[in-house]
Amino acid sequence: MATKVKSVWFCSHCGNEYAKWMGKCPACGEWNTMVEKEVATGGAAKKMVSVPGAGRKPMRLTEVLTTVEDRISLANGEVDRILGGGIVRGSLVLVAGEPGIGKSTLSLQLPLGCPSLKTLYVTGEESVKQVKMRADRLGGDASNCFIYSETLMENIIAEAQETSPDLMVVDSVQTMYCQNVESTAGSVTQIKEVAATLLRFAKESGIPVILIGHITKEGSIAGPKVLEHIVDVVLQFEGENRGAYRVLRSIKNRFGSTAELAVFEMTGAGLREVANPSELLIPMHEDGLSGTAVSAMLDGARPFLFEVQALVSSAVYGTAQRSATGFDVRRLNMLLAVLERRAGFKLSQKDVFLNMAGGLRITDPACDLAVVAAVLSSNFDYPVPGDVCFAGEVGLSGEIRPVSQPGRRAAEAGRLGFRRIFVSSYCRFDRKPEGIEVVKVSDIPALVRALFK
Ligand code: TYD
Ligand code: MG
Repeated sequence: MATKVKSVWFCSHCGNEYAKWMGKCPACGEWNTMVEKEVATGGAAKKMVSVPGAGRKPMRLTEVLTTVEDRISLANGEVDRILGGGIVRGSLVLVAGEPGIGKSTLSLQLPLGCPSLKTLYVTGEESVKQVKMRADRLGGDASNCFIYSETLMENIIAEAQETSPDLMVVDSVQTMYCQNVESTAGSVTQIKEVAATLLRFAKESGIPVILIGHITKEGSIAGPKVLEHIVDVVLQFEGENRGAYRVLRSIKNRFGSTAELAVFEMTGAGLREVANPSELLIPMHEDGLSGTAVSAMLDGARPFLFEVQALVSSAVYGTAQRSATGFDVRRLNMLLAVLERRAGFKLSQKDVFLNMAGGLRITDPACDLAVVAAVLSSNFDYPVPGDVCFAGEVGLSGEIRPVSQPGRRAAEAGRLGFRRIFVSSYCRFDRKPEGIEVVKVSDIPALVRALFK
């Protein structure tokens, strides 16, 4: 790549670098300290990302003064909670998810619900009019929300310094580009450079930035994956597009726990927080239907229960069909093979359909036991009792393996009125769960004996 020369301004007092001249250094607050320097960009020079405070000396850890992280509440209980109690000043938060999942909706809803924060919403995907129409649909107070339609990073940073908002949203990383990088918007180099520029801006100005990034159906495209180590926080939006529920999961957080998850419902007026997901995801029908089982899931720090539905029927065509919504179909095939080989159930000539309630996408292996129970229940056409739930992983030899934090799962199940929870015989509880009977099973035949006796 050709090397170009461009001008940057350094503060001679603290050494911070800026894209343009300023009277007062935003980092150290000194006046008239900016000096112009020419730096090479492109080629090898590109790799050198300037770090705020460069030139400082190493110091003893004990000498470092600590301050409590300065957090700003976004006035959205669930988002604040998964961020660890509000967004940290000067942090870069990536909101990643498939197109159409609701990233723009959420990022616009946050400032509209929190008019005390002056927000700069930079859109590279939609026109200002489209954003306005969406804002009208969402309701809320738009008086302190500034919309800026721009894709060139240099302009965005200059404008952000001028506007000096409390919060900045950039939608999306794939549409933005830096002039000094000679590749098209959306390429890996551009994506990295855009994120590095925003990180530098956030750290220097103290303004928190929410950056939106698309990932494809296949999951981890180059885009947000290469960003994960650059940004401070990664929130991933998941859910089946046609389902009403969306899960926002924290998969990286430099300022808090990643064991956090929030559930939202997509409504006609934007995303609604679902404070207690279990109540929506457990059966709404009468007892006595075969093919359903409730799993006690723990995703992040929060246990919640949801219904697994299976339908097993004789294959009409030669090869049996297997289809799963919200669950890995390879894992389903594995569980069916285990049922066939280790427990003698003849399922190879059967079609098997599996569905997770609410359009959730489940990755917790503790869901295996409920899947097996639902499949067997549908196969025998014999219902699983309505007051029973499951938490166990199924191994290749048909053994039932323990899951993490069984006590919290059992406690949540008990709270919601379940009377029995099936777990592995190897499961250890810190203390005996109250109000719910624990049934320990070691393998699939033991499960069948205990469940369908
Ligand atoms: P959007 O936020 O545009 O997705 P992303 O930015 O992740 O690509 O969400 C788009 C979907 O959300 C779209 O299919 C319509 C739906 N939607 C609603 O159901 N209700 C609403 O109030 C809004 C704004 C969007
Ligand atoms: Mg969008």
